[in-house]
Amino acid sequence: MNPQTTRARDAHAPRARRIVVGVSGSIAAYKAPSIIRLLRAAGHEVRTVPTAAALRFIGAPALAAVTGAPVQSGVFDDAAAVAHVQMGEWAELVLVAPASADLLARAAAGRADDLLTATLLTTTAPVVMAPAMHTQMWNHPATRHNVDTLRRRGVTIIDPDAGPLTGSGYGAGRLPEPEQIVARALAALDAARDTAAAAAGAPGDLAGRHVVVSAGGTREPLDPVRYLGNRSSGRQGCAIATAAAARGARVTVVSAHAEPGVLAELPPQVDIVPVTTAMELRDAVRAAAADADAVVMAAAVADFRPAEVADTKLKKHSLRASGGTGEPVRQAAPVIPLVENPDILAGLVTDPPRQDGEHTLVVGFAAETGDADGDVLAHGAAKARRKGADLLAVNAVGTDQGFGDVPNAVVVLDAGGTEVARAQGTKQEVAEALVELIAARLNSRRPSV
Ligand code: CTP
Repeated sequence: MNPQTTRARDAHAPRARRIVVGVSGSIAAYKAPSIIRLLRAAGHEVRTVPTAAALRFIGAPALAAVTGAPVQSGVFDDAAAVAHVQMGEWAELVLVAPASADLLARAAAGRADDLLTATLLTTTAPVVMAPAMHTQMWNHPATRHNVDTLRRRGVTIIDPDAGPLTGSGYGAGRLPEPEQIVARALAALDAARDTAAAAAGAPGDLAGRHVVVSAGGTREPLDPVRYLGNRSSGRQGCAIATAAAARGARVTVVSAHAEPGVLAELPPQVDIVPVTTAMELRDAVRAAAADADAVVMAAAVADFRPAEVADTKLKKHSLRASGGTGEPVRQAAPVIPLVENPDILAGLVTDPPRQDGEHTLVVGFAAETGDADGDVLAHGAAKARRKGADLLAVNAVGTDQGFGDVPNAVVVLDAGGTEVARAQGTKQEVAEALVELIAARLNSRRPSV
């Protein structure tokens, strides 16, 4: 391995944290012990606070055993110790998993009728909630409103997964897997730490820099209701934006349909420019990059778009072809000609938008699966040479790696295809490692102001 390789995980060795795990009344409460176990296995100290309803799904002795400490549920369980204040002050992170519709409602209303809601009111620590409930409850306007309220207050809400639900039915409402919840919760803790450090005036080595990040996935319309799109959530791009902002950079996110929950977690000072198509993304990125020190193309850009966008909905049945009988005639499957979109990343290199002579550091991503022609790295190296970006972060993608809320790993190559760094972990950790590389390159040319 290249001796200059950056080992992102070593640089971000986790520190033991004090974490309150709240458990509320949902069938998914059975996953709480796994969450607690994972947190403790990672070296963190946990206190568990179940609601009364949670204790109907899982017993206090089981929770106490995995926590390694007694559990309390009511504000009067240990009144002399003023547990409701103590617990909130003790916590460096409060994670509520699962968060039932009722718990979200009580938290949004500021109720304090049990130890968990009282802790939520007294703590100044970051709060992460992982809702789990039936789809109808999740989609109900009351729950949507409560989730919006909590997000506006800075609570990180982990969107539930879609899948088969208890009883009958299929839809959004399932508690994500414990590993994903723990990764998101710890990432929120790190982000809060970085924001606090920035607010306290900790040196931001990207102060005075402008970093542009594209995030999400473009959508190419076929007709007024359909589009060609992809599964990108925007999480990696937004994590990079957050990491750059934490180091003092002015950050613009050009968002091609990044998920609302992901955008909601960006620091408030980050500018967001929404776009839909690859052409709009190109124009917005180039406009923002006119004074940028670095551009990170994390968006998944459609390589092709339909040559023509139908003004009206493409129909399976045609009335016109009925020959005046009024009986619709079934059409053959349409063939949709495509035209190639411009390569935005390569264009930033060959035709830099910045006109004042300053170099803009251009960073790309290459999502690869490997195939019969070559493995992930072979494709990545060829792409690095073809695109000419200063840095290209290559990651392996499949159905369960690289997309969505899962840990990933990247190998960073330079414009010649040579490996300069590796990073792995949560998208937050990967983002921090990439921003570290960007900052090092920018600051080696000109110190930040
Ligand atoms: N990209 C871009 N414009 C495009 C396509 C991709 O700017 N029209 C950027 C992406 O944002 C990413 C990098 O190029 O930073 C690599 O994207 P990828 O889809 O992996 O590469 P492609 O050029 O599509 O190559 P291939 O289809 O051969 O894998």
